[in-house]
Amino acid sequence: LCYLFCALTKCVECSSEASELADIEWDNLGFGLLPTDYMYMMKCSQGGNFSKGELQRFGNIELNPSAGVLNYGQGLFEGLKAYRKEDGNILLFRPEENALRMRQGAERMCMPAPTVDQFVEAVKETVLANKRWVPPPGKGSLYIRPLLMGSGAVLGLAPAPEYTFLIYVSPVGNYFKEGVAPINLIVEHELHRATPGGTGGVKTIGNYAAVLKAQSAAKAKGYSDVLYLDCVHKKYLEEVSSCNIFVVKGNVISTPAIKGTILPGITRKSIIDVARSQGFQVEERFVPVDELLDADEVFCTGTAVVVSPVGSITYKGKRVPYGVDGFGAVAQQLYSVLTRLQMGLIDDKMNWTVEL
Ligand code: COI
Repeated sequence: LCYLFCALTKCVECSSEASELADIEWDNLGFGLLPTDYMYMMKCSQGGNFSKGELQRFGNIELNPSAGVLNYGQGLFEGLKAYRKEDGNILLFRPEENALRMRQGAERMCMPAPTVDQFVEAVKETVLANKRWVPPPGKGSLYIRPLLMGSGAVLGLAPAPEYTFLIYVSPVGNYFKEGVAPINLIVEHELHRATPGGTGGVKTIGNYAAVLKAQSAAKAKGYSDVLYLDCVHKKYLEEVSSCNIFVVKGNVISTPAIKGTILPGITRKSIIDVARSQGFQVEERFVPVDELLDADEVFCTGTAVVVSPVGSITYKGKRVPYGVDGFGAVAQQLYSVLTRLQMGLIDDKMNWTVEL
């Protein structure tokens, strides 16, 4: 109950006040785990419903070596962020979208999932319990990582008999080591991230393990990350390992359509709406890799990366540069509107933020 006492008064257990910030260096946050005070846990059996979750001190969890998630990858994750406003209140960005996406993923992975209300309430409780870890305005955000996993023991291939929903958080800054500077991508044409009928369109943990080999090879050559092509024609853009991609030509912004092999990013969806509201024409369609050659700008979107400008893309040994040293004008405009909205600096006409 430490978080409750913390929220009211000076806390005996952690000797801090809720309004106080954790004693860390806030100026240079990257995207790495900083352990915080509490995590949220809720369990349910196969065929049952999640009912009562609780906060516990952040720490290691116990799993049977035969747990479904460890043996057969029966697991999903989500990512969302909380921002501290100038008045000290906290804003969540579209948490119900993450809840819905987790429910869709759970259906694909044969798992029970928390209801939208349970998910959102659990996120709120976890963030409030870790309030001192939400960075000061302008210094970053609190990254919230909900997990859903088959935690029960199975040996033969089957859905696990028990499931755990867990949320932990960490204060974060920029995702890429480049910070807000443009990233350099390489198009991967041998390895693929997803196949039609597979699980590319849900946020299952295995999708992310599958990109590590190409990503490591790209990083060893000095690239920031890998851009994937569709595995059938090897011709159409799909997504980057950790984010969605957008290509700008004049007033038209194109992005690969959601068709089961691409993650339906919440930042992607939000940027499409923001771009349309700013007068751009947005096309969700098949985007041939050749369109990269004469694009004005390319940028990536994701919860972790927010909006990240692409400085160059290398395809079959040819490097295509975009701009010189920073955001292209379109990415800058969209980034600015989205982040000001997320931080509560402009009117939230979309009704996307949830204030705590
Ligand atoms: C996110 O952007 O929240 C993600 O889940 C991507 C992850 C690789 C950091």
